[in-house]
Order: sequence, then structure tokens, then C-alpha cells
Amino acid sequence: MIENKDNNLKFSLTTPLYYVNDKPHIGSAYTTIAADVIARFKKLQGLEVLLITGTDEHGQKIQRTAESKNIDPQLHCDRTASTFTDLWQKLNIQYDRFIRTTATNHEKIVKEFFARVQAKQDIYLDRQQGWYCVSCEEFKEERELNEDKFCLIHTNKKAEWRDEENYFFRLSKYQQQIEDLYAKNPNFIQPETRRNEVLNFVKSGLKDFSISRVNLEWGFGIPEDPTHTIYVWFDALLGYVTALLEPEQEPNLENALSKWWPVNVHLVGKDILRFHAIYWPAMLMSAELPLPEKIFGHGFLTKDGQKMGKSLGNTIDPFDLVDRYSADAVRYYFIKEIEFGRDGDFRETRFINVLNADLANDLGNLLNRTLGMIKKYCQGSLPKMTAAEVPQDNPLKTIGSELGDRAAAAYDNLRFDLACEAVFALIRASNKFIDDSAPWSLYKQKKQTEVETVLYSVSESIRLSAYLLSPIVPDLSNDIYQQLGFGIDFNDFTKGDCASVYQQHSQWGKLPANQNLGKSKPIFSRLELPEEITE
Ligand code: MSP
Repeated sequence: MIENKDNNLKFSLTTPLYYVNDKPHIGSAYTTIAADVIARFKKLQGLEVLLITGTDEHGQKIQRTAESKNIDPQLHCDRTASTFTDLWQKLNIQYDRFIRTTATNHEKIVKEFFARVQAKQDIYLDRQQGWYCVSCEEFKEERELNEDKFCLIHTNKKAEWRDEENYFFRLSKYQQQIEDLYAKNPNFIQPETRRNEVLNFVKSGLKDFSISRVNLEWGFGIPEDPTHTIYVWFDALLGYVTALLEPEQEPNLENALSKWWPVNVHLVGKDILRFHAIYWPAMLMSAELPLPEKIFGHGFLTKDGQKMGKSLGNTIDPFDLVDRYSADAVRYYFIKEIEFGRDGDFRETRFINVLNADLANDLGNLLNRTLGMIKKYCQGSLPKMTAAEVPQDNPLKTIGSELGDRAAAAYDNLRFDLACEAVFALIRASNKFIDDSAPWSLYKQKKQTEVETVLYSVSESIRLSAYLLSPIVPDLSNDIYQQLGFGIDFNDFTKGDCASVYQQHSQWGKLPANQNLGKSKPIFSRLELPEEITE
């Protein structure tokens, strides 16, 4: 048995491996942004992190897409996979591994795993009859289809009747072990509501599922029976394992699982939670391999309150959104606006209002007015004082002292919305503090110490906010840090000792006395609503 990784200084996580039937949509961008935020927060804390993403390239859906375009499936996959890496670059995603399931090292891993499961007598040949949704790549129960046999998720694609010989995986054998897993690890499936959905499904009794397809070329052949190809989901889930191989490593399970397995969290959308929370652990149990620590099922995005889809013509193009509004804007909106785990809506007016209110007004103006006053009242350098000289009852010191721990807890619980809320409470309190204490009149009254105390506590609050928001808006945080005279680059975790920087910078009171300011410039320009949107 391959043992679990042995320390808690490492953190590994995955996004789903996206189908390459089309270029990435906003749903893929959403999960990947969230994964990047988690990865960056862990790196900020000094952990060694591995973020895995990639593409799921086999199966009927991809084969048919390539056929419809009259091109070779591999060529189609190559072209589409690169649109994903392009988007991740645009969105400033720092992934460590990009696994493509058509890679040759992946075939070796899938076949070795298949053999392990087969050796446990968990694979057998039988007749499969049922309705298959090609878009989900899944057999559906009658209750998961409408009366015209359309799948409830893909309402524009009719499920297809299949009656064929398939190899099956003995999922039913793992009923008790799966139930025990959930009972012993209450956090295995998150959030709570989704956990309950899975528990109910499992309680109703697990059925064996087919893991091969006939009449389908685009996949890995079943060892010893090439008339079948391995079911795309069986193949794809193992992509998480192949991704762990170092580029030059011999592709076998032992190598793949030696450093990073088991991963700390698989992030998935709610529609594919069952595969990750039931099928995947059962497959690993069969192969006698350790299980991932946690599966988190996030919600779905809608547009203007409606389900998004090509047939409705209301999809959001993530490339276009980033081009028009910047990576940080897109990252911030989805992370701040939607409680991770729940469904969320995208409405362009709301998007613009949120960004203008938070980033342009509350944070951007705060920085601007504060730096302006420092230039005027403190000869352009940060006040000559330290946090110890700020009175205990200073409201920003009070809020700021708890903020680092509060934000860390929110990030750890994947409640990024709460992390943003906590930081913006400090930012709003800072604006209010300036208004209430009116440093301009204190200056006129020649109360220099009071002026400096206000400006110190506000600048320090801006610094702390920028630090704690950096996993979400790294470019913006860089601009703020640079203007406050620091040399930290939130896009580069390779320099210095991140853990000790975190110790200091995540707490209120770090700002050094009399530090020279950098060149100031607006950090976020107000956004205008495009003319065609009237609301
Ligand atoms: N290829 C499988 C995953 C295999 S993982 C080993 C797959 N791919 S997918 O491209 O169809 O979907 C990828 C992810 O996008 C899923 O987590 C899915 O939930 C998510 N989303 C698809 N539409 C979405 C929204 N409208 N909103 C949020 N996420 C959505 O499934």
C-alpha cells in the first residue's frame, strides 16, 4: 500500500479536468480562479503548493465534436487545450501542472490502475441497457430525464438508448466502506448541503457502473479486449494522479503517488460531485490507494438570473470579460460576490457597481487620499512612528489586530466572500476614520503627532488589506505595496522566506517608520457600463 504524504507543509489541490469540446467558459474560469486563490493563500503562508488543472480529452463527446469539424480528434484536442492555457495566463492563474488525458504517460497510469482493480475481481463483463447523455458522458436514471428523454442538465440534447456489453466496476461492493468514510470524515464532502445530497444518494443503494464503451475509438483500449475503450470518467479521474508525475519520471503509480498524494482538496462543480465523492473514492479503495482529503462542490453561475447555455445565447465569454475589465476585476467579482458552494449570478450592472464601489471608491480613493496627505503633511515619507505608539483604542488598530486571523480562517474554510468582507470592513472604517478625524484641520492646528497617528493607522490598514487580498487581486496588491514603498511581488513566491514574511505582514502594525513612498498612481479606474446595456 502506498502511504500518505507525511507532512503538513505541503498543499495540493485540483480543478476539474475540463472537456475540450469547446473553449473554456465562465464556469471553468470560476473554479480555476478559486483554486488559484487557495493556492496563492497557501503559498503566502509559506507552504509548498501544487495546483493541478488540465483537460479531459477522450470520449464520445470529443470524438463527435472533432467529427463535426471534420478534423482529427487529436488535432482538435491540441487546439482546444491551448485555449485553456491561454485563458489561465490571461487570468493570472499560477497552475503547476496541466494534465492532458491524451498524454502517453497517462495511458500507462490508467492501465496500471485498471489492472489493480481487475486483480481485486472488481471488474466484470455484463449487459448495459439504459439512456446515455453524451454531454454528461453518463448513463441516466429515468428520473434524471424529462418525459422526452432529455437530460435535465443538457435540456437541448436527447439522451441515447444503449444496449451493449460493457465492463462494469463493482461499486456496490464498496457501499459500506463509502458510508463509513463519510461517517468517520464529516468534512470529506463540503459544503454541508451537498454532503447531505450525496449521503442520501448513497443510502438509496450503490449500483455497479459501466467503465467501458463499445463502438468508440477515442479512448484507451481495455487491456486484453481492444473492442472496448475505457470509459472517459474512469480515465479522467486518474488524470489527477498522472498530473503528479515529474516530467522525466517513469510513469507508474508508485512514482506518481510518492510526493503529493493524497491531494488536500478536489474542487468541482455540483454536477460532477457524485463522480468525485462516490465513484472516485470507491475506485481508490479498490486499488488500495489513499483517498483525497476533501471534495468541495461549488455552485453554478447564472447570467441575469437565467441558466447559461449556448441555446439560450447568454453565455459569458471569459476572454472578453478579462479584455474589457482586467484579470483582477474578474477574479475579485466572482470571489467576493458569490459564497463559494452556492449558486451565483452574473449581471454586468452588478459587476460594474461592485468593482466601482469596492476597488475604485473604497480602496482606490482611500489609497489616493492617504498618499496625498502623507505627501502634504509628512514630506512624502510614511509617518515617523510605529504601531506601538498608536493608542489601543484607535478603531483601526482594534479591527486590524484581529483581521489577519479572521481572513486566514475564512480562506481556510473556502469562504473567500467572508475574507473580502472582513478586509473591506477595515477599509471602510479607514475612510470613516479620516472623515471623522479630519487630518487637514489637525494639520492647520499644528497637531502633527495626531496627524501622523491618523495617517500611520490608515496607511497600515491599507497595507494589511492589500496583503490579505493579494491571493485574489495580486496585481492590485502589488501596486499598493509598491506605492507604500515595499518591494514584495505577490506574483512571485520564489524569493525570500514567505512563512516569516507572512508572520509579520499578516498582522496589523508592520508598517516601518519613515519609509519612502513609491510613485503613486490610481490603482483601479472607474468602470463605465457599456452603452448597449441599458439597465
Ligand atoms: N471533464 C469533466 C470533469 C472531469 S474531472 C476528472 C467535466 N468537464 S466540464 O468541462 O464539462 O465541466 C467542468 C466544470 O465546469 C465542472 O466542475 C462544472 O460543474 C463546471 N461548470 C459548468 N457550467 C458551470 C456553470 N454555469 N457555473 C459554474 N460551474 C459550471 O465535467
